[in-house]
Amino acid sequence: MPHAPILNHKDLMTERAIQPEVLIHLIDKIRPNIRAEHAYLVGLEAHIATKLNQNENPYDWPSDIKAQLFDSFLTIPWNRYPNDQPVLLQKAIADYVGLSPDQVLVSNGSNEMMLSIGSVLIGKDTPVVLPTPLFSLYEKIVRLCEGQIISVACLPDFGFDLPAIREAIRTNNPVLTVIGAPNNPTGAHVSKEDLLDILEISSGFVLIDEAYAEFVGDGRGMQAALAQYPNLLILRTFSKSFALAGIRIGYLLGHPAVLREILKYRIPFMVDHLTERIGVTVLQHADWMREKVREIVSETQRLQQALKEVPGIIQLLPTEANFMLFKTNLPAKKVMDAMSEKGILLRNMSGYVELNNFLRVNAGTPEENDRFLEAIKIVLREEER
Ligand SMILES: Cc1ncc(COP(=O)(O)O)c(C=O)c1O
Repeated sequence: MPHAPILNHKDLMTERAIQPEVLIHLIDKIRPNIRAEHAYLVGLEAHIATKLNQNENPYDWPSDIKAQLFDSFLTIPWNRYPNDQPVLLQKAIADYVGLSPDQVLVSNGSNEMMLSIGSVLIGKDTPVVLPTPLFSLYEKIVRLCEGQIISVACLPDFGFDLPAIREAIRTNNPVLTVIGAPNNPTGAHVSKEDLLDILEISSGFVLIDEAYAEFVGDGRGMQAALAQYPNLLILRTFSKSFALAGIRIGYLLGHPAVLREILKYRIPFMVDHLTERIGVTVLQHADWMREKVREIVSETQRLQQALKEVPGIIQLLPTEANFMLFKTNLPAKKVMDAMSEKGILLRNMSGYVELNNFLRVNAGTPEENDRFLEAIKIVLREEER
């Protein structure tokens, strides 16, 4: 005769009911600076057809290019670990940027690499210069590492206050200064000369976040300066121009000796076999990316021109990236909600102190941009009444 179970499911539920005090006691063990944070959550509402809130590339890779990966899907061993660094992708990126593989570290998206850089450089009260507004994860990482944030406010026109940045570097001798080039969320850009100047006066590291590099000029960014400046770190992503936000590939360019140190900190196997093959494949089709970037740049300019004519838009910032900031004569939340009712998702930037009531829109396809322009005109007309 089979034994009756010692505890059935119902007993287990009552025996193991978790007391709130137990949970509180456990949560109390989590470091206070972590508990003080907010999780980064960007939900996608089901009815949103036109998504213009995360600066993504609106074009997905064509099916015939995706299909080239079917073979890899079948032949890649799922039972074997990948390399520490995905060497094929590391080499392909090195060829793409015109550097050697030992000047490239590949990561699971660039956000993930930011945390490595922060953890390697920032300890308790370590000064870090951050011009504001800046991609918010940088501040979060400094807080997580218990460093000291030295904020440098932007100019009234939201450009970089370069004399103030230089002054902050001279006075605080930071281990790290971060510059977005072009900068998210403002869209402002810094000239190569100004960046070289910052590198020249910094004895610490200067991290240039080039997430949007391909949208500016020849798309080559600052990599040529690596030959002179071992304190230069350049962070790039495949999420924007390369249309791979859903796959997660980022990379860091820097001096080999510095990258070797960062590698010591990193968790192994962050980039899996399939992701590596996807990265290598899209790099073989960089011309597709360049063509889409040209279309996005031209659509960004069209949006800029069109928004200048929309009644109710009281401020529009120039941009060098694939997105732009604007302010209307209504509260940002009201406009954002009304747009979302119409199936168009924008980003409310009010969380940044300098950007209260600003909205951010990124360039979509021509059809998406038409839909956005039509809707924003209607919303600003209707909501004003
Ligand atoms: C300036 C900047 N850096 C990094 C990222 C994140 O990129 P990834 O998708 O590679 O983590 C973003 C994404 O919006 C960004 O705007």
